[in-house]
Amino acid sequence: MEKQILVTGGVGYIGSHTVVELLESGFEVIIVDNLSNSNMNALDGIEEITGKRPLFEKLDVCNKSQLSSFFEKYSGIEAIIHFAAFKSVSESVANPLKYYHNNLTSTINLLYFMKKKDIPYMVFSSSCTVYGQPDELPVSEKAPVKKATSPYGNTKQVMEEIISDTLLSTPSLKAISLRYFNPIGAHPSALIGELPTGVPDNLIPFITQTAIGIHDELKVFGDDYNTPDGSAIRDYLHVVDLAKAHVVALQRLLKKQNKANYEIFNLGIGKGVSVLEAIESFERATGEKLNYKIVDRRAGDVEKVWGDTSYANKELGWKAEISLDDAMLSAWNWEKYLKKRKNINT
Ligand code: NAD
Ligand code: WQD
Repeated sequence: MEKQILVTGGVGYIGSHTVVELLESGFEVIIVDNLSNSNMNALDGIEEITGKRPLFEKLDVCNKSQLSSFFEKYSGIEAIIHFAAFKSVSESVANPLKYYHNNLTSTINLLYFMKKKDIPYMVFSSSCTVYGQPDELPVSEKAPVKKATSPYGNTKQVMEEIISDTLLSTPSLKAISLRYFNPIGAHPSALIGELPTGVPDNLIPFITQTAIGIHDELKVFGDDYNTPDGSAIRDYLHVVDLAKAHVVALQRLLKKQNKANYEIFNLGIGKGVSVLEAIESFERATGEKLNYKIVDRRAGDVEKVWGDTSYANKELGWKAEISLDDAMLSAWNWEKYLKKRKNINT
């Protein structure tokens, strides 16, 4: 039987882009997702882009009996790419138990079945949030993990520890944690992209929603940071570049090229971009004028963070290639596609 790759949360933003790259690299993919933050349009988009419809099972990864039936049905799974999680920093502050329950239980359940069913490999979605405000920039994987500033951030730290401890006790299991910086943009086809629910917390969806008229203006949170233009700095990487890194990480495990049972890689462009530079890039790439105003800093924001990605560049042979302007243009094309789809459906 053909070996299969299980992608949890594969209908979501980063998962759907990764499924496209997996299918285009010849992998057989099974997605599980409970659609708590996504919808089936993404599966149609994946099929339209690749000409293949991945297997899909709607289930909650926190539900052990659903997972048990799933692993009885699919016995050829060789590796798991684990995206399924809740990801809103602000919601996690308001409802920490929801975050601890979903993010931790899902990961513990998967590790349990990896042991039980001899599924040796996992690629895990971690985050630059584990670094907080780093002492040195760019921040490398060797930098200390700082006390988390939100329950969401804490779930990523604890999940990394749970994975690491489990691998120590069960050396037949191997995992790679990928610490993403700020994923942005959409597939160049504009058939899949990010689907923020409610008012987006994140900068790029707020920019595109403002430009299309959903919001009157973008609020730039702070221009008094210790940065060249006073606005906060991040490392924005295109979601397709990020998706490709998952395929490379998976192949590293499958080909047994990993140098330790548990490895961690930063994934970013390795360069800092300020909020004001991001706005300039959006305007340059799309020809749209963005209405924005400077307001106070947002509570809990770090001032500046960008990644040292040299370890991923060297060890994975992976490098982010898509420019910020192209990422902005792809986010804009996706926003316009969403508007068109909404108009057709109303
Ligand atoms: P997303 O919300 O678009 O995708 C997550 C998917 O998981 C959704 O389709 C959701 O329905 C599903 N899901 C959630 N809980 C589930 C459960 N218990 N059972 C089954 N399905 C479940 O988010 P995303 O942006 O694609 O993020 C994917 C992963 O990457 C997450 O682990 C997130 O924490 C991590 N991450 C995201 C970012 C970012 O800025 N987007 C940055 C760093 C890390
Ligand atoms: C980027 C910059 C804002 C919105 C979050 C999570 C982190 C990770 C990535 C998952 C900041 C500024 C934003 C707006 C603004 N996710 N901004 N006006 O804060 O780097 O990180 O997403 O792991 O855990 O915390 O991303 O997109 O929210 O903000 O000025 O309306 O844009 O202040 O400087 P952030 P973001």
